[in-house]
Amino acid sequence: MKRDGSNLSIWQDHHESYQPLTSGHWSESKVYDVLIVGGGVTGLTTGVLLQKAGFKCILAEAQTIGFGTSLGTTSHLNTLLDTTYPEIENRFSEEAAKLVAKGASQAINLVGQLSGEMEIDCGFVRKNAWLLAETEEEEKELNEIYDAAIRVGIGVSKVLTSPINLPLRAACCFDDQGQIDAGAYISGLAELFEESGGLIVENCRISEVSREQETHIANTERGTLRASRLFYATHIPPGVNQYSVLCAPYRSYAIAFTLADGSYPDGLVYDMKDPYNYFRTQRIGGQDYVIAGGFDHKTGHQENTDYIFTELEAFVRNYFSIDKIAYRWSSQYYEPADGLPYIGKYPGRDETYLATGFSGNGYTFGTLSALIISDLIKNGKSEYEDVFDPGRLKPIASAKNLFTENVDVLTKLIGGLFKDEKLEFWSELAPGEGKIVEWEGESLAVYRSESRELYVVDPICPHLGCKVNWNTTEKSWDCPCHGSRFACDGTLLTGPASSGLRRYDI
Ligand code: FES
Repeated sequence: MKRDGSNLSIWQDHHESYQPLTSGHWSESKVYDVLIVGGGVTGLTTGVLLQKAGFKCILAEAQTIGFGTSLGTTSHLNTLLDTTYPEIENRFSEEAAKLVAKGASQAINLVGQLSGEMEIDCGFVRKNAWLLAETEEEEKELNEIYDAAIRVGIGVSKVLTSPINLPLRAACCFDDQGQIDAGAYISGLAELFEESGGLIVENCRISEVSREQETHIANTERGTLRASRLFYATHIPPGVNQYSVLCAPYRSYAIAFTLADGSYPDGLVYDMKDPYNYFRTQRIGGQDYVIAGGFDHKTGHQENTDYIFTELEAFVRNYFSIDKIAYRWSSQYYEPADGLPYIGKYPGRDETYLATGFSGNGYTFGTLSALIISDLIKNGKSEYEDVFDPGRLKPIASAKNLFTENVDVLTKLIGGLFKDEKLEFWSELAPGEGKIVEWEGESLAVYRSESRELYVVDPICPHLGCKVNWNTTEKSWDCPCHGSRFACDGTLLTGPASSGLRRYDI
């Protein structure tokens, strides 16, 4: 399976690419009930629910099924969320926190239910999750999280041990979390969607959408798609809109390794650092692996992303007797300004829906989005529509985050994050090296492949004009402003940009 980075995730290595049964044949004149944009966990789950309810859906994926974060995930399923329940109570209300907990729990149940309907083993299992406090301050926060978890109705207990021997002053164990084999699950969803009559069109990037009377008309290089309703399940809505400002892009790093002593932890484990580290065991291809992750940073803000794996490895070696590091990969997520995702009706656009800002809870919120969007389309309402309303404004709660994120963005707009290196000869660039250089007075993004091919592109991001930076480990040009990412030859990997970087022939 393909995804938006050079490193192979554990899911990609164990699963073949999904081959759509419908292989992209659709009627250009037909008006489908719903056009779903994006073939990740969010779009596919929504498609399954809507098809089962009798709606005729067409799903357009710019690349291939699961190409974005859906195959870069570590696929934890949680009611224990990145934005804590005390934070949700403070920024929104106790009622909102209860609804969020209920929605997360319902999402995990839905994953379990859909997994049961798949004809392949997608590895869904319920697990407990341990949250570990190491310092006095963390213990205080842990106690607040514990109290709020009780208030919102999540099963939780205070414990003295954890499945992993991390430093521990206090800990809580949360019931009924879950995990899944992301590769198998994505393929299973795509199959369920098609079996129930849905159409998948891959390599179909939508360049423009207009609306004539009651119909959305989406133009693509492969033809025109028509639908009564439009759902952007694209991780971040494409183009220039408020969600580029309301959501900040981050990268997270994961490794999967085997153990010399065979003592694989049974459960999901999280510390309380900022950024936090996360662990779980996955059995795949007849072998157990520990998947560990963390060391998150804002997209495009690190010069040497390769080195982050060295740090992550050094960290986990303190607690595990590692036999072999089998996989290392990174992926992207979006932090919403006030801590909750934006899921629901696209403000100001008729019959248009969106879901974005899932933090590190992509599979949980992606699945919950499917419940919300399908309810909105089927019944015109969802019990979660107010709390996740994309049109909400939380100026007081989120002003500080929003301000910080956007001062940061503006700084990057003026001239880039790192200084251009002066280059006099192309031969100064080593194989596998990418950098922004000053060449005859111009700023260029250059990359020399391992086979010595030279790629030269304009470093200015076509979204809003920030200067991209080289991601050494995923071999991509990453925009530090709103997280658009481009392949070494400038091809667009992920939005919000709608086109690639300009190429130069050298
Ligand atoms: Fe917005 Fe690049 S993603 S300027």
